[in-house]
Amino acid sequence: MASSLVFVTPFLVGLFMAASASNFYQDFDITWGDGRGKILNNGELLTLGLDKASGSGFQSKNEYLFGKIDMQLKLVPGNSAGTVTAYYLSSKGSTWDEIDYEFLGNLSGDPYTLHTNVFSQGKGNREQQFHLWFDPTADFHTYSILWNPQRIVFSVDGTPIREFKNAESKGVPFPKNQPMRIYSSLWNADDWATRGGLIKTDWTQAPFTASYRNFNANACVWSSGASSCGSSGSSSSTSSTSSPWLSEELDSTKQDRLKWVQDNYMIYNYCTDAKRFPQGFPPECNMS
Ligand SMILES: *[C@@H]1O[C@H](CO)[C@@H](O)[C@H](O)[C@H]1NC(C)=O
Repeated sequence: MASSLVFVTPFLVGLFMAASASNFYQDFDITWGDGRGKILNNGELLTLGLDKASGSGFQSKNEYLFGKIDMQLKLVPGNSAGTVTAYYLSSKGSTWDEIDYEFLGNLSGDPYTLHTNVFSQGKGNREQQFHLWFDPTADFHTYSILWNPQRIVFSVDGTPIREFKNAESKGVPFPKNQPMRIYSSLWNADDWATRGGLIKTDWTQAPFTASYRNFNANACVWSSGASSCGSSGSSSSTSSTSSPWLSEELDSTKQDRLKWVQDNYMIYNYCTDAKRFPQGFPPECNMS
């Protein structure tokens, strides 16, 4: 009796978290910025601020090992050139894993660049960059990360923009053993984000503000060395019925959408940058 309660509790906590309305007080801590990051409206809204003295940032209370994680962001409006809003998952240590979204601001009316990267065991250099098919400062849009043992998929408003497949069969490490926390920060990067510092942040526009709402994580929470989804392998039936995202792949409609984004909105892809890889592209670039 007692032992079955102990077993059931983390599972119920997981269900509760997935079903409850997003509450930033419950799920996140503002970690830096001396008051420039704020949780508002009873936990429904979070804002980060940046001025000449400092940016700000927050991180999740939980660590996750696989998940389908959605967040709505509304980016710094107007002349945001030089500002960077980073939203990412990362583990710790010198051989860390990381899954990145970075939004590089621009002059009023010029498009943001959405920069993505995947690090496994401390190695990144897997940049893909996009423009968006909407103005990301006018309203909230949903930025999602699907992370399961087979793939990482970046999606914007449900449209996949990038898929990073597990290429362990080609000798490429895949993030699957290190739990990651969610991090976000708003900071000044006018030394590199504006094509090598071409444009400087216009501090007369400060404070700059980015906003967050409707966080939703269907995820395996990592705690005291154990996953809320159970140990992989022993609980496949639990996984596939209660967490279909653990084996989710792109159906043909989503693959068509991905191709539409890559054909029309991708502005940089390391997998086609021949100058950068004269000896041949990294092995994961040749996954069909
Ligand atoms: C800013 O907009 C210009 C003009 O469209 C574009 O070439 C550039 O890549 C953009 N820069 C960033 C950092 O998004």
